[in-house]
Amino acid sequence: MTTLALNNVRPYGEDVLNLLIDVTSGTIAEVSDTPFTDADEVIDGEGNVLLPGLVDMHVHLREPGREDTETIATGSDAAAKGGFTAVFTMANTNPVIDQPFLAEAVWSKGQEYGKCDVYPVGSITQGLEGAQLTEIGLMARSGVRMFSDDGKCVNDPQLMRRAIEYAKAHDVVLAQHAEDHRLTGSASAHEGEQAARLGLRGWPRVAEESIVARDAIMTRDYGGRYHLCHASTEGTVELLRFAKSQGIEVTAEVTPHHLMLTDDKLATYDGLFRVNPPLREARDAEALKQALLDGTVDVVATDHAPHGSEDKCVEFEHAKPGMLGLETSLAVVHRIFVETGLADWRFVAKVMSERPAEILRLEDQGRPIAAGEPANLVLVDPDSSWTARGEEMASKASNTPYEGIEFTARVVGTWLRGKTTYTEKDSQ
Ligand code: DOR
Ligand code: ZN
Repeated sequence: MTTLALNNVRPYGEDVLNLLIDVTSGTIAEVSDTPFTDADEVIDGEGNVLLPGLVDMHVHLREPGREDTETIATGSDAAAKGGFTAVFTMANTNPVIDQPFLAEAVWSKGQEYGKCDVYPVGSITQGLEGAQLTEIGLMARSGVRMFSDDGKCVNDPQLMRRAIEYAKAHDVVLAQHAEDHRLTGSASAHEGEQAARLGLRGWPRVAEESIVARDAIMTRDYGGRYHLCHASTEGTVELLRFAKSQGIEVTAEVTPHHLMLTDDKLATYDGLFRVNPPLREARDAEALKQALLDGTVDVVATDHAPHGSEDKCVEFEHAKPGMLGLETSLAVVHRIFVETGLADWRFVAKVMSERPAEILRLEDQGRPIAAGEPANLVLVDPDSSWTARGEEMASKASNTPYEGIEFTARVVGTWLRGKTTYTEKDSQ
């Protein structure tokens, strides 16, 4: 057996331990108080924080169709650099992932590249057109665990009802991009004072909340595993809290940008800050933060959305919506929750690895750091100081909304089934 020693690491930021990894089987062979010295490779973790590999329920890797902005390979590189060992890539590609062979191709490409498990999300409607359901059953049988029309909402209530029923029958997750299109039209910014001041068409909170309310009631009556993508408003938090208090089994995600950024970023009309749903107000960000802390919102998901500069460095209302997220999300979550003392590393592991793995029923992700468990791991230097730069990212695109911002919490290394998928040393 080939072995890797990961010495002097602090699982979940707690006591220093040493790990012996069996690279051949991809599992943690032993955990000990004393360092392992005779492994094939020995790494000194320098007291850094060790977490289970991160799991992102929501990314856009743009392959097939827009390989000029991201591919499964470059997206996997960005994921590994950000500490992720599994991601779910959305179906809004060209062609849309609406048939089993397309989903299978995404999965195989990810496996061939080998830096991250790339799970395909199947679309709910054919071609994302919101008219005909896809063959949810056939795709489920070929291994698709989650279905979403993300980028678009399943607006039609009758279609949504049928989708919920099919998803329930096949025991898969149905993820909704909640946006009543009739209320958003061509809006590009949160409807509020800032949009009014800037002369931008407004996207009201109710466009999201009315769909969340409807879907929660449908889930109450028809069951299934409903998941809400990128919750963005205070009212959505209230609705989720109500739904959960009624025993309705919905889950929800929040993005790092909806936690950290607000619509005052729009003052310069910089297209980098255009995203769907739009950046909201401070009270929304605050409500989302509390909701993640108390479990009303289950997970952080990035909605990593690469776009080329020709689509971002244009007039605000013409910019494509979306921001990079994979390489900055851990640092953003660390800034908001750990640096402030609101939460600890156990919380980070929960919302960025354990809960998403549980929702998607990934048996080999989000596992405890213990002997016999899969060696999907990320090592983080919590005190280093680094500056986010779009140009330096592993992603093919550079549309980060955090350009020039100094962060701590830097990923030092990532391992997928014991195999090194990223080390800081290689990237220097
Ligand atoms: O901002 C967004 N960008 N929101 C979405 O829902 C889709 C995504 C994309 O595909 O670029
Ligand atoms: Zn979306």
